Amino acid sequence: MKIITNVTEMQALAKELKKTNSIGFVPTMGYLHEGHLQLIRKAREENDITIVSIFVNPLQFGPNEDFATYPRDFERDVSVCLEEGVDIIFNPSVAEMYPKPLSVKVLAQARTDVLCGNSRPGHFDGVATVLTKLFHLILPDRVYLGMKDAQQVAVVEGLIADFNFPIELIPVPTVREEDGLAKSSRNVNLMPEEREQAPEIYRALLAAKNKIEAGERSIESLVTMIRNDITQKTSGTIDYVEIYSFPDLQTIEKVKGKIIIAIAVQFTKVRLIDNMVLSIE
Ligand code: PAJ
Repeated sequence: MKIITNVTEMQALAKELKKTNSIGFVPTMGYLHEGHLQLIRKAREENDITIVSIFVNPLQFGPNEDFATYPRDFERDVSVCLEEGVDIIFNPSVAEMYPKPLSVKVLAQARTDVLCGNSRPGHFDGVATVLTKLFHLILPDRVYLGMKDAQQVAVVEGLIADFNFPIELIPVPTVREEDGLAKSSRNVNLMPEEREQAPEIYRALLAAKNKIEAGERSIESLVTMIRNDITQKTSGTIDYVEIYSFPDLQTIEKVKGKIIIAIAVQFTKVRLIDNMVLSIE
């Protein structure tokens, strides 16, 4: 396994490899967990070469967000990648990726006025910009993204289509802890009692799914039910509970077609997100 920190070297190697190999790319911010591993395993199955980027991208964090406290453990990430058979880790420094202020940024225009786009202004511009750079450096045939960040999947689908990247996006289902909490690098920053309450987010999603399966079609009733559940059972503050069509994230009058139920809850040091995508006749 190679570890590359230099952009020129990364691109030169990718160009060379691409002549005779397909490249699967798993972009991450490190502190790898089972969710990331699922993406890596899928990439390995479907490609000759698997490249994982580990880069905590300052561009996608707001001024009051957790860039400084975002968990990092590069040594452990390296051993995990070795075990998983990753071919290359791309781990540039911030100065390597952004040596000077950018003269051009990628603006995520659609699908960003709701959910995390609304509560994290500029976040998806940062994601779209870093991925544009990473796509040019890694030259992947396929990129693997987790449905845990469903809005990110929707935005990147738009980025790939609008800018004609010759890349196939492969969405991967959310990996969860045994108690249902979606795996996330940020979970380590939950207080012990918050960690106990956090699975209530997924339970609320499951309860909503059951209601829908029993015939409930009202967005308002479902949102109220989820909000009550989370307010009563956790000490977190709800950032949003919303239901939209997926992947275009448009407002809908009632539950119909492919929909996403998405939740964000702010705990003391961590904001957790989760979602469920359902197809309803
Ligand atoms: P990060 O939060 O490290 O996540 C990297 C990838 O792992 C994302 O595609 C994310 O959706 C996926 N992932 C995280 N938790 C998951 C889980 N429990 N199950 C399945 N997949 C999961 O997302 C980012 O980094 C960044 O925004 C990035 C795309 C790297 C751009 O900087």
